[in-house]
Amino acid sequence: MTIARSSGREALFADCSSKPVVPPLMTRPLSAALGLEILDVDLRDPLPPAVIARLREAWYEGLILLLRNQILTEEDQVRFAECFGPPAKTINVNNTGKHPAVMLISNIRKDGKPIGALPDGEMQFHTDQCYIEKPAAASMLYAIEVPSVGGNTLFANAYLAYETLPAEIKRRIDGRKAVNAYDYENASTIRGTRLREGVPQYSHPVVRTHPATGRKALYVNRLMTIAIEDLPQAESDELLNLLFDHQEQRRFIYEHLWRVGDILMWDNRCTLHARTDFSSAERRLMCRVTILGEKPE
Ligand code: SIN
Repeated sequence: MTIARSSGREALFADCSSKPVVPPLMTRPLSAALGLEILDVDLRDPLPPAVIARLREAWYEGLILLLRNQILTEEDQVRFAECFGPPAKTINVNNTGKHPAVMLISNIRKDGKPIGALPDGEMQFHTDQCYIEKPAAASMLYAIEVPSVGGNTLFANAYLAYETLPAEIKRRIDGRKAVNAYDYENASTIRGTRLREGVPQYSHPVVRTHPATGRKALYVNRLMTIAIEDLPQAESDELLNLLFDHQEQRRFIYEHLWRVGDILMWDNRCTLHARTDFSSAERRLMCRVTILGEKPE
């Protein structure tokens, strides 16, 4: 279970100089599209600043980071999140873990009620909190119980989605904004036909620039993007459907099959994610922490 618990530490001070020498992290690509697995970090202990800097570099390069076989308390998970920015307090007071920054994502029910948010089945592509002014920069899930089949999370690379658009489409969307909203009448995980009255909504650029990498990413999604502003509805619908189909192509995607002990962090500014269906007879329990973000530009 434990991953190279001592190797990183010893190597850090191996040259006996006062300045720690930090070897590159051991990593493995998760797919051709995006994702890096970090092979030699144990999150139970606080990480030295130089290792945190390496993790950040790896994250900007890989867009999502996976660490397997981690045995973590909620405090450990929040401390890991703090390496990348301030964690947000959870919004949904019914589904919190013991720590105020931890939200449970689970289909497990107590007295008939789910103990976690987003309990059941398939979930369409989206980016977290794109319907508020400052959406989460990052989100992470720590897997505690997973179904034997399904409940996989798919991640799509939104830089590649933008970069591979035909010039004509780029011309049509550059400089435009789209309205994002969420909370459908009948389902929270699949785009519905009607939004509930008074749900939170916010307009953000269709193409956003990542504040750290300077790269442009396509920032619309099937679950929550409702309309492109200042276009007739038919044209907005046609353009959005084209963008959704484009960004969800398999060549831009990594599909994660969860194992207990996985912690996976994604960058909401340059990725989208979705979830595959799973049996309601099986239990799925994840602890989610999000990191505060900035207003997309
Ligand atoms: C989420 O969208 O935050 C949940 C994804 C998942 O349950 O795999």
